[in-house]
Amino acid sequence: MGFATDAIHAGQPHEKVTGAVSLPIFMASTFAQDELGADVPYLYSRVQNPTREALEKSIAALEGGLHGIAFSSGVAAVHSIMSLLSAGDHVIIAEEVYGGTFRLFEQYMGKYGISSSFVNPDSIENLQDALRSETKLVYIETPSNPLLKLTDIDLVAGFAKVNGIISVADNTFMTPYFQRPLSHGIDLVLHSTSKYLSGHSDIIGGIVVTNSDTLNKKLRFNQKAVGAIPSPFDCWLTLRSVKTLPLRMQKHNDNALAVALYLHAHPKIKNIYYPGLPNHPGKAIAQKQMTGFGGVVSIEFHDFATTKHFLKKLKLFSLCESLGGVESMVNHSATMSHSSVPADKREASGITGNLVRLSVGIEDIEDILSDLTQALED
Ligand SMILES: Cc1ncc(COP(=O)(O)O)c(C=O)c1O
Repeated sequence: MGFATDAIHAGQPHEKVTGAVSLPIFMASTFAQDELGADVPYLYSRVQNPTREALEKSIAALEGGLHGIAFSSGVAAVHSIMSLLSAGDHVIIAEEVYGGTFRLFEQYMGKYGISSSFVNPDSIENLQDALRSETKLVYIETPSNPLLKLTDIDLVAGFAKVNGIISVADNTFMTPYFQRPLSHGIDLVLHSTSKYLSGHSDIIGGIVVTNSDTLNKKLRFNQKAVGAIPSPFDCWLTLRSVKTLPLRMQKHNDNALAVALYLHAHPKIKNIYYPGLPNHPGKAIAQKQMTGFGGVVSIEFHDFATTKHFLKKLKLFSLCESLGGVESMVNHSATMSHSSVPADKREASGITGNLVRLSVGIEDIEDILSDLTQALED
């Protein structure tokens, strides 16, 4: 089946009892058993719930994976992956990742004896230099949040295979519509479903997809043992949204490309980051692993006064923390999404106080451009 067909049907058969075409929200904490010891598919909703199971199957199919394991948030999904490790283990992680992921690795996992090296994953030499005998996992996010830096997935997956460690790719910005890391040999693909997969800024969720039966078993155990699971209603909202994922992603992509082309030569803008621009440094990588560029465009102004003025004047774009919704949003990364990254690290990587991340929605492009135009005026 094609991607759009799977987005509508994979994991979502008609409901058996009534024939309902839309899978019901199974609001049940527990399921009755005919007799003691009976072999039943559902016992207790922390362990499995039919609506969650449908979501897990749906996203797994879209990523080209065998198993999906859903969590209550994107960071809960990251935490569950980190829980595969033990005290004394070491992780190599890309230096540019979402601020909450940075916080989890840098400020939280240490107390469980898991250490992290933040590296530029551009070259095999950089990865090799960070490798230790205790290294168990390598973690990337491509494109990165918020600077849209691309990492070569083949390179990282190959490095992990040669060294017998687990590779993880956060695919939140691309979604499986534009990029499928498992097909490049990545072991675990991760999403914040709070973003494009749910797409309407109304739920928080996360999911991990894998082809490995062993990792699936371990992650399922973590899911059950820790209990950071999404509600049936949140799973249903995400399933409903996934049906329109191809249409939404295409429109996000078209609008974001139009915004990037419109802004890239503007005199008030010092730097612009969008993988779809012809001069993006990751062009060769994009050609290998992406079929589109997504809906996020980051821009840097020359000074903070202009940045503040722009944020204040925007009307259609809401100033808020998230991205990936149908509505256009804007984020000041230094004080919002990446405030947990120390200032010196932020500045060194390019997340300055003058950087603004635009999550371009699927409104009419004329309205989006006219809002940006008026916000750029003095
Ligand atoms: C790329 C990326 N990964 C993971 C997360 C964490 O997801 P959540 O906010 O659902 O916990 C985010 C959140 O912004 C993100 O942007």
